[in-house]
Amino acid sequence: MMADKRSSAELENLLVTGGCGFIGSNFIRRLLEGADFTGRIINVDKLTYAGNPENLADIAKNFPQRYVFQKADICDAALMENIFQKYEVDAVCHFAAESHVDRSIKNPESFIQTNIVGTFNLLEIAKARAGQFKLFHHVSTDEVYGSLGPTGLFLEDNPYRPNSPYSASKAASDHLVRAYYKTFDLPVTISNCSNNYGPYQFPEKLIPLVILNALAGKSLPVYGDGKNVRDWLYVTDHCDAIWTIMNCGKKGETYNIGGNAEMENIKIVELICDILDEISPAGNGNARRELIAFVKDRPGHDRRYAIDFTKLRQELGWKPQESFLTGLKKTVQWYLNQKKWVENIKTGAYQKWIADQYGN
Ligand code: NAD
Ligand code: DAU
Repeated sequence: MMADKRSSAELENLLVTGGCGFIGSNFIRRLLEGADFTGRIINVDKLTYAGNPENLADIAKNFPQRYVFQKADICDAALMENIFQKYEVDAVCHFAAESHVDRSIKNPESFIQTNIVGTFNLLEIAKARAGQFKLFHHVSTDEVYGSLGPTGLFLEDNPYRPNSPYSASKAASDHLVRAYYKTFDLPVTISNCSNNYGPYQFPEKLIPLVILNALAGKSLPVYGDGKNVRDWLYVTDHCDAIWTIMNCGKKGETYNIGGNAEMENIKIVELICDILDEISPAGNGNARRELIAFVKDRPGHDRRYAIDFTKLRQELGWKPQESFLTGLKKTVQWYLNQKKWVENIKTGAYQKWIADQYGN
């Protein structure tokens, strides 16, 4: 059954954490450029290596009354408390996280701090605002469910079996959010989504990494046998799903979000090579597939993820709009068009801009 649509006008001062990252910046753009949100967004971001204010430079310029940026670490409870009070925050959409599995294997500490302690801080502050606080939406991942065999799909009531420090830290944060609903009646919703791709993704993740390496004629590292499967979702579809859940979801509930687009990693890498060969052939005339290099596998590498999002489709009426092939072509074209953005990431120029602007 479809849920009643709650009026988004209810949310006046929406705190978005991690809004300078990949999905958070797409989400802020979606809300401010869309017609179904009339409130103000307070974007809190620590600006780690993954946070890039350039992702929202036009938004800051075009929506000066409705967009506020605060450089802050969600682990700093006192600072976060001040921000909640200053801007009379009545809802949170929580994206901020350390998000890259490989980094969590090399150096897990910041994942524990940001993903667990940071989430705990936000929940405590929201809890203290009982009465005026309307919604805490927690953005999470399908990786909390662990790894699937060749068949089957993740459902909302699957047991949690996280396999990497990243997914374990996200699992802990999911449990905290749910516990604050059960114990303190904090109004929460949770979403667990599959792999995103699209504009503004930091090029450490598979798809942008392969696009930029292929363009530079560098090798394309494929972990293990390349047959690990992910279920891919175009980022704007994810943003729409989150906004649907925030508006129509039932408090205390978890919703899975997926793309119905399972794909082996090697197939994705080959597809990107072929798209690039077609729209931007290599100067030396070589096929990009020649750059593919099978490398040592990721430790604990989950074999397959695939999402069943029947609950979100049947109860709230959401389904993805973009097919994987059209979304991938759009993404490749976006990276080809964004020469300055790419150059700033590669040279670290945006990090220098942050240092000049914010003094660290
Ligand atoms: P990202 O790494 O691109 O962005 C994370 C943002 O959080 C950055 O702007 C960073 O500066 C900020 N941040 C990090 N630590 C912070 C802190 N202590 N205080 C304040 N800000 C901090 O990540 P993403 O891919 O956009 O993912 C966003 C969220 O979505 C994460 O919670 C992630 O677990 C979840 N998610 C991601 C995917 C995916 O495929 N990328 C899929 C499902 C769920
Ligand atoms: O499933 C949702 C998750 O998807 C999110 O929670 C994470 O934040 C996000 O990073 C993503 O995690 P993955 O580990 O699946 O994404 P990544 O892009 O790092 O890797 C995708 C697949 O490609 C994975 O099987 C590992 C493989 N891979 C990755 C890289 C970076 C390669 O084969 N070579 C590479 O160089």
